Amino acid sequence: MIPQQIVGRKRDGGELEPKELRSFLQAYIDGAVGDEQMAAFLMAVYFRGLSPAELDVLVDVMLHSGDVLSPGASAGPRVDKHSTGGVGDKVSLALAPLAAEMGMIVPMMSGRGLGHTGGTLDKLEAIHGFRTRISLEEFDRVLESVGCAMIGQTDEIAPLDRRLYALRDVTATVSSLPLITASIMSKKLAESLDGLVLDVKVGKGAFLPEVAQARELAQAMVRAGEARGLATTAVLSAMDQPLGRAIGHGLEVREAVACLAGGGPPDLRELVVRLAAEMAVAGGVTDALEAGGAMAEAALDGGGALERFARLVAAQGGDPSFLEDLDAGGRGLPTAPRTTVATAPEGGIVAEIDPLPLGYGLISLGGGRTRQDQQIDHRVGFELAVRVGDQVSCGQPLATVHAADEAGMAVGVRAVGDAVRLAGVAASGRDAEPSPLPIVLERVVGS
Ligand code: URA
Repeated sequence: MIPQQIVGRKRDGGELEPKELRSFLQAYIDGAVGDEQMAAFLMAVYFRGLSPAELDVLVDVMLHSGDVLSPGASAGPRVDKHSTGGVGDKVSLALAPLAAEMGMIVPMMSGRGLGHTGGTLDKLEAIHGFRTRISLEEFDRVLESVGCAMIGQTDEIAPLDRRLYALRDVTATVSSLPLITASIMSKKLAESLDGLVLDVKVGKGAFLPEVAQARELAQAMVRAGEARGLATTAVLSAMDQPLGRAIGHGLEVREAVACLAGGGPPDLRELVVRLAAEMAVAGGVTDALEAGGAMAEAALDGGGALERFARLVAAQGGDPSFLEDLDAGGRGLPTAPRTTVATAPEGGIVAEIDPLPLGYGLISLGGGRTRQDQQIDHRVGFELAVRVGDQVSCGQPLATVHAADEAGMAVGVRAVGDAVRLAGVAASGRDAEPSPLPIVLERVVGS
């Protein structure tokens, strides 16, 4: 096998034999194919796609590049959810303890920031002391005592995805349907789940912004799960504006905690409740979404979900007392030394809040990576003061920018200006009717 021939064939739109694709991937695992050759291959896949047979090989090799967890004697159905990634998407932080509170076992394995999107692991690490790198033995112990555990990919689980994910992040090859499918499904299949719910984002801030592409991605992932005996459901959800109001790691933890305490922004709560209900159905806890939704609301409003989160934080090395006072110095969440308010340059209706300038703005503030090995600043980010459809007058706050220094404040204010588009208000009323997407657009289930 000559690696450059394989790359060339894919580049020219050819279909690879399962055997040759398998040996190319194996050679990368073994070190005989270099990162530069794999980066070129990923770019070829980005433009040419993969056939169903090629995709099947990629999922299979990624899944078996590491261990498959053993479910052991589980006290409930093992269920997880995974999102294709968005801006302000802090759902997992609330959902894992919530689903555990509803009787599910949630072995959640999450990723770091990818492209313009934030990663759950990076958010968890904003919590002082929280350890996302724990052994699989410790992961099992936390799972058993708390009902949920949250870790990053270890060297044992789908290590090939870990390497490809890092490479894609810095080579503009993230937004590829087969690469996303294989990345997500290899990790999730390795968790030995009874049920899986996929949150496939749609809109400008999603990797695949169009509904048709998102639906195709959802269908491909549901097929990959069902083909391997995993009950898999996908939900298409809105990412045409950031989810909730907070963007940035520490800020997003705060917002997730508000949701766990029964509050938080309505769009975040709606999505968390719906995904919890989907998990309950996928895991057989209930057979009706309405009943699952009611269970989720009761766990959020009754304090059980927040208490479960406190147990999770303690079990993974954090000090849950920060939940009593989120701003407590030292033990609490990190706060940025500088804040400034970005204001509306004119009056109007908020016609758009484009997630992309805010996602990339977070990276510019130091809250994301431009190199694989970079440390990130958990303190920085944005707190939106408006949602699409709000009416604002000139000078009214659009967002608070949390920055490390003066330069960061200027960068952040520019990002808010690029993200928020105001439409004029005609004398007779609105001359532009913004219509944000509904939070949940569609549900995709196996045939
Ligand atoms: N999330 C993942 O785990 N992988 C992707 O490729 C995209 C989102």
